Formats: sequence, C-alpha cells, structure tokens
Amino acid sequence: MEKLLIIFLHSSLLISVIYGYNVPAIFVFGDSIFDAGNNHYNKNCTAQADFPPYGSTFFHHPTGRFTNGRTVADFICQFIGIPLQKPFLEAHLEFMNGTRKDYPSNGINFASAGSGVLRATNQDSGVTSIQVQLQQFQALVEQRHIDRKLIQQSIILFESGSNDIFAYFDPFGTPTLTPDAYVRSMLMEVGKFIDQIYKLGASRIAIFSLGPVGCVPARVLLPRTPVTKCYGKMNKMVKNYNMGLEGLVNGIPIKYPGAFGVFGEIYRTIQIFRANPKRYDCDTAGFADVNNACCGDGTLGGFLQCGKEGYTICKNPNEYLFWDFFHPSERTYKLITKALWAGRHTRIRPVNLKTLANMTLPPR
Ligand SMILES: *[C@@H]1O[C@H](CO)[C@@H](O)[C@H](O)[C@H]1NC(C)=O
Ligand SMILES: *[C@@H]1O[C@H](CO)[C@@H](O)[C@H](O)[C@H]1NC(C)=O
Ligand SMILES: *[C@@H]1O[C@H](CO)[C@@H](O)[C@H](O)[C@H]1NC(C)=O
Repeated sequence: MEKLLIIFLHSSLLISVIYGYNVPAIFVFGDSIFDAGNNHYNKNCTAQADFPPYGSTFFHHPTGRFTNGRTVADFICQFIGIPLQKPFLEAHLEFMNGTRKDYPSNGINFASAGSGVLRATNQDSGVTSIQVQLQQFQALVEQRHIDRKLIQQSIILFESGSNDIFAYFDPFGTPTLTPDAYVRSMLMEVGKFIDQIYKLGASRIAIFSLGPVGCVPARVLLPRTPVTKCYGKMNKMVKNYNMGLEGLVNGIPIKYPGAFGVFGEIYRTIQIFRANPKRYDCDTAGFADVNNACCGDGTLGGFLQCGKEGYTICKNPNEYLFWDFFHPSERTYKLITKALWAGRHTRIRPVNLKTLANMTLPPR
C-alpha cells in the first residue's frame, strides 16, 4: 500500500513538472479554424485541405488543416505545453483497427471544416455539425474512453458560426428567417452545446467570437459584395452573434456551478491587425497585405481555393493576414493566440487563457 502511494506521488509530481499548467487535455469543437484533419479522414466530405500547399510552412506536408501551418488550437496546446490533439476520426480509426489501445489522454479535436452551429449548414458537403461532434464526444464519455475527471481538468475550446452566417448569404439559398431571427436560432444551438458539455463534465470553457467574416476574400463569390471594403451586412450579423455569445459566456458561472467561461474577442483582435497592419506587433514586421489571400486566384485571391487547378501563391505567407479565400495564415493564428493567451480585457475576458490554464476550480 505504501509503495503504491509513493509511486502515485511521484507520478503526479512528474505531471505537474511536465505540464507547467494544470491542463492535461484539450477538447476542441468547431469549424475550419480548428479542424486538424477530421474532414480528411471523412471520405464523405467534400470540404478538404489535404493537398499541397496546405501545411507547407510548418508541417511541410498537408495535414487537413485549412492553413499553411498550425491553428489557434495547436498554438494553445503549445503554450500550455501538451502535444497537439489528434483529429477524432484518426484516433477512432486507429482504435477500431487495433493500432491504438485507447483514445489519446491529451484530448481530442472534433472540429470539422465547413460545419456550423446549425445542423443544416453545409450538410450537402458532408461536414460534421457541432451537434454530431458533441455526440461523438458523448459516446466516448459514455463508453468510458474519456475519464470524467480528465474532462473536469481540461479546457474546452469552441469556435463556430462563420459558416452559418456565410451560408445565409448563399445566392442559391432562400433564407426564411430575418437576420436577427437567424442569429437567435444560432445562439440557441450554442446554448444547448454549453448545457450538454457541462453535463458531460466540462468546467473550463473557452468560447471564441467569430472574426470579421464579411472581410474574407471569398466574399467575392457572393453577388453584390463590395471588393474595396468588407461586406457590412455580413459583419453586422457577425457582431450580433458575437454579442449574444458573450452573454452566454457570462452566464456560465451563474447557470453552471463549478464551471467557468472565457470569451475570446477574435473580431476586435483581427480588426486591430487590419487597421494597423504595419505596427500591431512591436517585435516583428507587420503584415504587407491584410485584404488578399496569399494563395488562390481572381479578385482578392477569393475566387478559387488554394491548391486547386490554376491557383497562384505569394512569396511569403507570413506577410499575409489571409492564407486562402476563407482562412488566416499561420502567422495570424499565432498572433491571435498570443492575444488570447496573455492579452488584456479587450482581447479576452474575464481572464485570459494563461490565467484560465492555471485556475483550480472546486470539484463538482
Ligand atoms: C500558477 O499559480 C501559482 C499560484 O497562484 C503560481 O505559483 C504558479 O507559478 C502559476 N503557474 C504558472 C505556470 O503560471
Ligand atoms: C459516409 O457515408 C456512409 C454512407 O452514407 C456512412 O455509412 C458512413 O458512416 C459515413 N462516414 C462518415 C465518416 O461519416
Ligand atoms: C489503422 O488506421 C490508421 C488511421 O487510418 C492507419 O494510418 C493505419 O495504417 C491503420 N492500421 C492498420 C493496421 O490497418
């Protein structure tokens, strides 16, 4: 008995030395901003980035991530000091075919590019909605592949909604809801997500606002969108959604005893980069271009997905805010993560990720 105790003490000491923060795992939910390759392992899905030059700056090969390197979820792991999460479908396939004994202990990434908080968004592309991502997580918890105690110590990352709002402006769709009603229906789904994830044991929940979706180069694919400025109507809906999102985050500690939420201000953070491309960051050079995609084709580089036949690519992706028609470059993701990790109230509130990672919440 004594021996067991000593071993236990040693191993817990080891864990705290290795991690630095008391976050052993991260569970990631959302869309292409976070997807680490789930769509790649989903052969039914047509929203893909598993071909060159995706991944070329950091991984030096495509991983299914929709950027030239690491995503915000990856950088957060690195700042905490734990290995990057595998896509759920990869871990699942490995578990099913016997290459791995159990699911990873450092968390899992469930995010699916193209998905939204509304079930219907991009379903014809075969994406995994936030509801199905949650079901995948729930199944692992119920089958005891993920320990509830681990979930309590983990950080949950959530970012979704851009695809729902972009889809609202789809010229082939016929929106039946007003913009306000549509946003309310989106927020209702986020509310349900928080409810469920809390019931499954989540305590530390980080929810990120949408960036200025109306500024992505791919807006040129929609009829009647401005080229020299962002699409105001779209950004108005985004801001509306973000405001509701923050309300939900503020409600977490009240509605869910023992849980804590933070709200990451991605919208404002990106708009500050865009307003001061040359001087947002004192230790490095600024962005040379905050409007065009580094990789793509046509007006703003927004007509064609990077890597598809006929694409062109810029010399230095680090100088571009946008990597492709929808997605920021790895450099942008790194700067966003820095702001979320150690930034002040204007970037993330009520506390930053660094503080969240070192927080001890009462056991539930
Ligand atoms: C976490 O907080 C404790 C005290 O609140 C502090 O001593 C420790 O250095 C912090 N750890 C990290 C990694 O910041
Ligand atoms: C792909 O589609 C098939 C047939 O509809 C379905 O059985 C399978 O579960 C789907 N795969 C994934 C990963 O969604
Ligand atoms: C098991 O699945 C993984 C992920 O798809 C694959 O990389 C690996 O080669 C498979 N192993 C076997 C023995 O089939």
